Amino acid sequence: MKNSNGFPEGFLWGGATAANQFEGAYNEGGKGLSTADMVRFIPKEERGEGFSLDVSGKEIEAILAGKVDAVFPKRFGVDFYHHYKEDIALLAEMGFKVFRLSINWARIFPNGDDTIPNEEGLAFYDDVFDECLKYGIEPLVTLSHYETPLNLTLKYNGWADRQVIDFFVQYAETVFKRYKDKVKYWLTFNEINIIALSPYTGGGVLVEEAENPMELSYQAGHHQFVASALATKIGHEINPELKIGCMLARMTTYPETNNPKDIIKAQEENQLNLFFTDVQARGEYPGYMDRYFNENNITIHKERGDDEILKAYPVDFISFSYYMSSTTSSNPSEDQVSGNFMGGIKNTYLETSDWGWQIDPIGLRWTLNDFYDRYQLPLFIVENGLGAYDKVEEDGSIHDDYRIDYLQKHIEQMKEAVLDGVDLMGYTSWGAIDLVSASTSEMSKRYGYVYVDQDDEGKGTLERSRKDSFFWYKKVIETNGMDL
Ligand code: BG6
Repeated sequence: MKNSNGFPEGFLWGGATAANQFEGAYNEGGKGLSTADMVRFIPKEERGEGFSLDVSGKEIEAILAGKVDAVFPKRFGVDFYHHYKEDIALLAEMGFKVFRLSINWARIFPNGDDTIPNEEGLAFYDDVFDECLKYGIEPLVTLSHYETPLNLTLKYNGWADRQVIDFFVQYAETVFKRYKDKVKYWLTFNEINIIALSPYTGGGVLVEEAENPMELSYQAGHHQFVASALATKIGHEINPELKIGCMLARMTTYPETNNPKDIIKAQEENQLNLFFTDVQARGEYPGYMDRYFNENNITIHKERGDDEILKAYPVDFISFSYYMSSTTSSNPSEDQVSGNFMGGIKNTYLETSDWGWQIDPIGLRWTLNDFYDRYQLPLFIVENGLGAYDKVEEDGSIHDDYRIDYLQKHIEQMKEAVLDGVDLMGYTSWGAIDLVSASTSEMSKRYGYVYVDQDDEGKGTLERSRKDSFFWYKKVIETNGMDL
C-alpha cells in the first residue's frame, strides 16, 4: 500500500557497504588474501591520466615478495570485523530496515578452490546477521563485491577460467544453506558490468598479456552470468522464499544534442551498459551485442547448455547503483568529466562533486522509469550517495548539509518514480558508515551518516560519531520518506 507520498508500507530503507572496503582484519579468522588486499593507496598527485585501480600481475608478485612499501587501505577498512556490534547498533538507532553488506569470499573459502569452508568465517557472518536480526534489520547480502580470492587470480586468472564457475557455485551453495533462515535478500555480483571496464576489480582477471583484453573480459563476464544463474537456481532450491537479484552500475547516458548522431551514440552506450541486466533479467544475450562483438573481434565461448541455464534462472529483481549521469556526443569535445568507472562530456546543466561526478537527481527518476519499462521487475537502489570531505568541528559535530542536500534531492525523485508506477523495493544509500573508497582507496572521500576517525594512511582512533545527516536520515526513515 502506498502512502500519500508514494513510498509503500514496508519500504526497505537502509544503507550499503562492502567487505573489502569496510571489514578489515584481512589476515584474521582464517581469511585468505583477496584481490582487494593488493590495492594500494595512491595519492592524488600520482593519479594521472589513464589511472586505473586494476593491479597488474607484476605488481602482485612484487607485493607478495614484500618489495612494495605502501599503505593498503582495503586490508584494514574501518575494522567492522571488530566493531560490528557498535556499528549495527548505530544503524538500528537510525531505524534501518535493511543493511547491505557483502560476504568476503576469501573468508569462507580462503583459496577459492578449497573443498571445505572455513568455519571461523562462517561463524563471523552468523554473528553479524544475528546482530542485525536482533534489531529487526534485514541483511541484504552481496556474494561478490570486488574481492576475488587472490589464489584464483594467480592460479586460474580469475573469472577468465570457466572452472571458477564451480568454485563460486560451491561458495554460494555453502552460504545459502548456512544462512537460509537469516538472510532473505541476496545479490550475486556487485556492479557486474565492471568486469568489462576494470576486469581485475570485477573478476580478478589480469589482462596485460591478453591478445584481446576486451574479449577476455567479456568471456569472464559470460562465466559470471552462468555462475549467477546457477546460484539463483540453487538458492531457490534451498529456500524458495529467497529473493536473488543482479546488480548493475547504471550509467545513464544522455545525448549532448538532438543531432540524431548523438542520439544513436547515446543509445549504443546505454545498450552496452544494459547488456548485463538484459542477460540476467531476460535470460538471453541481446541481438545488439552481435554487432559490437563482431566489430571488436570478440567471440564468446559458450558451452552447450549455457543458453538454457541463462534462460531458466533469471533474477527475481534488479538492483543498481546510481551516483551520476553521463553525457555523450558523436563529436566529443575536450571537456571531459570523471566518474565511477565512467567519464563522458560535461553536462552544463549539472553541478559536480569534489571528485568531478555530475550530480543529477532527476536522472534517477528517468533511470527508474526506464528500467521498469524495460523489465517490469521490482527494482532496488542499492547504492547512491555523495563522496565528500567532512570537517569535524571543535565540539565534535559534523555539519554535512551538502550530503543531506544530495540525498534529499535523490529521494524526492525516487518518490516521483514510485508515483509514476515504478515498483521500488528499497533504498540503501552508499557507505552508511564511512569506509574506504573503491576507486581511489581514500578514507577522506566519505559517504557515511556515521563518521569514522581514520585518515588516508589508516591513522586514527576508529571512533564513530554521528553526523548531521544521521539525524536527518533517521527522520526520513521514521516518516517513511514523508519528511525530507
Ligand atoms: C560503486 C561500488 O562503484 O561505487 C562501491 O560498488 C564504491 O564499492 C562506490 O565504493 C563509490 O565509489 P568510490 O570510488 O567513491 O568509493
